[in-house]
Amino acid sequence: MDNIDLVFATNNQNKIIEIRSILKKPFSIITLKDAGIDIDIPEPHDTLEANASEKSFTIHQLTNKNCFSEDTGLEVFSINSEPGVKSARYAGEGRNFQDNINLLLKNLEGKSDRSAQFRTVVSLIWENKEYLFTGICLGTIIEKQKGEAGFGYDPVFVPEGSHNTFAEMSIEEKNKFSHRKKAVTQLIEFLKMKVS
Ligand code: IMP
Repeated sequence: MDNIDLVFATNNQNKIIEIRSILKKPFSIITLKDAGIDIDIPEPHDTLEANASEKSFTIHQLTNKNCFSEDTGLEVFSINSEPGVKSARYAGEGRNFQDNINLLLKNLEGKSDRSAQFRTVVSLIWENKEYLFTGICLGTIIEKQKGEAGFGYDPVFVPEGSHNTFAEMSIEEKNKFSHRKKAVTQLIEFLKMKVS
């Protein structure tokens, strides 16, 4: 199969590392840096789907190449699926991962239901048409964070089927459960069909 180049519309280095561990040959990821693009991609909408679309259409307009983006949210059921689409800025603009975790743990104090899911929406623009793929990982928010790996809410999220948080796992272990892996696997299956 010929090489398939895809621009990945993100500036998030953690996501680039994770996606590169999933999308192997014949796929080749072109980062925004590789493509010479240095912009903050807007995420102005109130759904993951609309934000993912906005990111991939923005980058498609700039590059005119096949590209994809992803938007991910942590949805905690007992607090109306918060932080959801606001996951990156839950504690406010300019706050960091630790601030977001602290606020989440505070908002869950005294709650017996700590079930949650990560949901990833991938927007692929392939030959000028958009396709969406979704991946979900169910799990629980623990009371005290554990682990140093990964990013975002990884230290407080234990996926169903494990006793460890994502932050206690290698990327390969996280991929056995991960929302992002599930969404990208659908993208891979779709593209394999298109190019076969
Ligand atoms: P976005 O898709 O870049 O808008 O990501 C939103 C936020 O969700 C990130 O800043 C992280 O805080 C969080 N997030 C996204 N994916 C993951 C993940 O795989 N593990 C933990 N946190 C994540």
